[in-house]
Amino acid sequence: MKKFFSVNDIDQLEATVQDALALKQSPVAHQDLGKNRTLGLVFLNPSLRTRMSTQKAAMNLGMNVMVMNMDKDGWALETRDGVVMDGTTVEHIREAAAVMGQYCDVLGLRCFPSLKDKEADYSEDLFNKFAEFCGVPLVSLESATRHPLQSLTDLITITEHKTRKRPKVVLAWAPHVKALPQAVPNSFSEWMARADREGLVDFCIAHPEGYELAEEFTPNTTIVHHLDDALQDADFVYVKNWSSYKQYGEILPVEGDWLLNEHKLKLTNQAKVMHCLPVRRDLELSSDILDGPNALVIQEAGNRVWAAQIVLKRILESLNKGA
Ligand code: CP
Repeated sequence: MKKFFSVNDIDQLEATVQDALALKQSPVAHQDLGKNRTLGLVFLNPSLRTRMSTQKAAMNLGMNVMVMNMDKDGWALETRDGVVMDGTTVEHIREAAAVMGQYCDVLGLRCFPSLKDKEADYSEDLFNKFAEFCGVPLVSLESATRHPLQSLTDLITITEHKTRKRPKVVLAWAPHVKALPQAVPNSFSEWMARADREGLVDFCIAHPEGYELAEEFTPNTTIVHHLDDALQDADFVYVKNWSSYKQYGEILPVEGDWLLNEHKLKLTNQAKVMHCLPVRRDLELSSDILDGPNALVIQEAGNRVWAAQIVLKRILESLNKGA
């Protein structure tokens, strides 16, 4: 593996999940694999879980880790070609990425979207340029349109906690006061749509009118506009806010009650409730659920380590083979 950007970078979905769960049983079984290899984690935006879980995963594999908070400690980056850099940007991505590739065997990059320019965000210009210029394998730590380490984690968590062969999984839109990216729901949908095709889950999405995700992320996916309809018989409810894709980056007025609480949870098959975190209590998800027995959010965050570790392990195996 040379890049981890989307579900398409995984050959065998079910086998990858099982390999990740095996790492959970024996976290330091491959301590020699990353010896004398360096992982660089580059953040253009804040992070708690991605930063710590990926560091932990790398340490479990014997790697050295360097973290670069470009947003706080780096030079202001220019990503456009053919411009005279006489404004606020100080360093071009061509040099910055290439230099980081000199220090690291593997890099990870977090780069959120602007939510102002749909075309620019969905072209993944920054991630793609960084991948092109850094010259080493690159792992997405969440890009403009996807968060694949989170989605792999989510599939691992569903597999670990499912009580029937093909559980019903609902992605449920939730309210928020800020315009949030579509990266987590896009990615979750992309991974669940494939898991559905492979018979691992029965996936559907519930969101208010106007919150349709880009069609490329929801192939053959059932989409409903009433939360209660989707919750019937659900085994897992994945709660997440996102801003509108159609009216790009906007928060639209919505009809109905979209806050999942204990009362609504009674409609489900005693569903486990997931959220990628951070979560705003009683705005996105009720405290009674977060503090109750159906919440899986902490176990889910814990599983971020095994998702990162299986991805880094595959990359290290490729590097050691000289592939
Ligand atoms: N879920 C997630 O990616 O968390 P952080 O933004 O804290 O890394």
